[in-house]
Amino acid sequence: MTAPNGWTTALVTGASSGIGEALARQLAADGINLVLVARRQDRLKALARELDVDVEVLVVDLSDASAIQQVVSRLQDSESPIDLLVNNAGSGTVGDFLETDAEAEANMVGVNVSAVHTLCRAAGTAMTSRGRGWILNVSSIAGFAPNPRSATYGATKAFVTSLSESLHLELGPQGVVVTCVCPGLTETEFHRQAGYQPEGVPARTWQTADQVARAALNGVAAGKAVVVPGGQNRAAVLAARVAPQSLVRRAAARLATLNGK
Ligand SMILES: NC(=O)c1ccc[n+]([C@@H]2O[C@H](COP(=O)([O-])OP(=O)(O)OC[C@H]3O[C@@H](n4cnc5c(N)ncnc54)[C@H](OP(=O)(O)O)[C@@H]3O)[C@@H](O)[C@H]2O)c1
Repeated sequence: MTAPNGWTTALVTGASSGIGEALARQLAADGINLVLVARRQDRLKALARELDVDVEVLVVDLSDASAIQQVVSRLQDSESPIDLLVNNAGSGTVGDFLETDAEAEANMVGVNVSAVHTLCRAAGTAMTSRGRGWILNVSSIAGFAPNPRSATYGATKAFVTSLSESLHLELGPQGVVVTCVCPGLTETEFHRQAGYQPEGVPARTWQTADQVARAALNGVAAGKAVVVPGGQNRAAVLAARVAPQSLVRRAAARLATLNGK
């Protein structure tokens, strides 16, 4: 990535593992100072020690609406402005909608939807007042089609993609670039955490967190609205967008069965 002119500091949520950690490492390699946000303090501190840039660590549970105010305050600090906000933190649940753990689902909506919404508003306000800024939201290809047995997760990602595309149009003329990256299956801790073991998915379907992070940052630097990393994922998204929706629903139901979701 060639960082846009004058980027000094980025704030990355969910930087303690997976795609967020890869984004943090790539930004640091470009000399960009970081504010790292997640719950696992030990992971964030270990990463901060490894990186050759200034790093602040904010230990915050983003499912907690009052705790998020810590991140809001940091985004609004005009003494040390954030050039790039990365809303990456996220969790998933798998199972029949009525059987999933209600608290886990509510927490997921808190992190995947409410926190993204709150932080976009805080960063958008600070960035438009400066007339420049960048926001990267990490969504998923799951947001483009129905997701039986991951219904709430898919719905949270449809929200993130829709919000991002609208904000790209609204905030762009005010100097703020909003980009949404929609990864497919990516090798991280995500699936273990969600209790989902994708069986029989060909190895070539998977991407690494580094590949996703690279595509996302290149997309931000290029001012793109939506980035779908990987040719297979782009083909799947195109099909979900142009095919008759009755066919898409049938394919989604079959995929859920095949994947043992
Ligand atoms: N892996 C995939 O196949 C895939 C595909 C499409 C989209 N995505 C999206 O990519 C993003 C990153 O996920 P990943 O794959 O890198 O998974 P991951 O390795 O499990 O990372 C998730 C990150 O989110 C943080 N997080 C989760 N709940 C949080 C909370 N309540 N408060 C603060 N931070 C929280 C975690 O940190 P702590 O646990 O330390 O809090 C961790 O740093 C997510 O938005 C996910 O939906 C992943």
